[in-house]
Amino acid sequence: MPTAARSDLRTLVESSLTLIEANQHPSGAYPASPNYPVYQYSWLRDGAFIADAMSRADRVDSADRFLRWCAAVIDARAGRISDLVARAGCGEEISADEMLPTRYTLDGGDGDEPWWNFQLDGYGTWLWVLMAHTARHGRPLDAYCPAIASSVDYLVAFGDRPCYDWWEEHAEHRHVATVGSVLAGLRAVLHARNEHGKPLLDAERARAATASVSALEALLASEGIAEGHLTKWLGGTAVDGSLLACLTPFEVVDPHGPVAQRTYQQVRGELLRGGVYRYLGDTFYGGGEWLILTAWLGWHEARTGRPEEALRRLDWIAAQATPDGHLPEQVSGNTQHPEYIAEWTGRWGRVATPLLWSHAMFVTLALEVGL
Ligand code: BGC
Repeated sequence: MPTAARSDLRTLVESSLTLIEANQHPSGAYPASPNYPVYQYSWLRDGAFIADAMSRADRVDSADRFLRWCAAVIDARAGRISDLVARAGCGEEISADEMLPTRYTLDGGDGDEPWWNFQLDGYGTWLWVLMAHTARHGRPLDAYCPAIASSVDYLVAFGDRPCYDWWEEHAEHRHVATVGSVLAGLRAVLHARNEHGKPLLDAERARAATASVSALEALLASEGIAEGHLTKWLGGTAVDGSLLACLTPFEVVDPHGPVAQRTYQQVRGELLRGGVYRYLGDTFYGGGEWLILTAWLGWHEARTGRPEEALRRLDWIAAQATPDGHLPEQVSGNTQHPEYIAEWTGRWGRVATPLLWSHAMFVTLALEVGL
């Protein structure tokens, strides 16, 4: 049993849902954090998982509004995407700064502040969430078809490229969690049917997406596993907390199979203190424990028959709430490199609090453990 009273945990679930809804922009976008200077943007990655939590919690309208915002953002760039895809198809070198950004202004603009923008995972994740949400709530998909087609074309053309990872670092590598997000999105689209029972992609696009899925699966199998576990990037040996998504919910590898088991053990053994580090050697705010990853570990534990551990994660997250019930991005009790905290505080202020993604993952874990 959790040490926090169930009623307190439920109160935090309710206030998290209210906080997310209150901060959703009229456009449908979710800001990463309402009051942290560089997080007044909507990331496809954060937003998709926030929408996923809202969908699971039956806040259907909120999830719909975010997903429609994603579709509008992508539809507005359909010409740019087909141009990039056509140029790549002719063998032209496309530079990273020509690619789509990872975050958008709340009204759907590219924004003009520099950022580590070329990240592919969000384009897979939004597709995965869209398919899960529409299936869960019987929502129509027709209006999304152009944005789905553009996203698939983009991922088929560029999904195996090196780019910044979930943490907006190491653009020189191909990251397993990124490849996993791309795979999850493409697989979900290929399996989905529209409200008339028809496939979502035309035959040619479906063939290209199927070939990409096979190629990405082969890439992960040959370069994304070391000593039986998934690795942070292709050809590496270290693990990263983001790998948990490849187990639950993306099921890029069988969540009950040996690779998932070794990955879980490795992440737990290396990265878990009270909460979960992103990776060993992290220096962002000294490299503390991240709430989203602690929820992720618990989510996977709940799905794989470890309910006591999952409840422990839920409890730990709740214990990190501020007196106002706000959940931060990370906490610094077991910081790996405290000497870096002052540098980041001087640059961007205190750790982002509330982080909507932290609240969303808390909700997802709470629902998963049946709170
Ligand atoms: C994290 C990203 C996240 C962004 C906005 C960054 O610090 O590394 O994963 O998308 O913040 O929350």
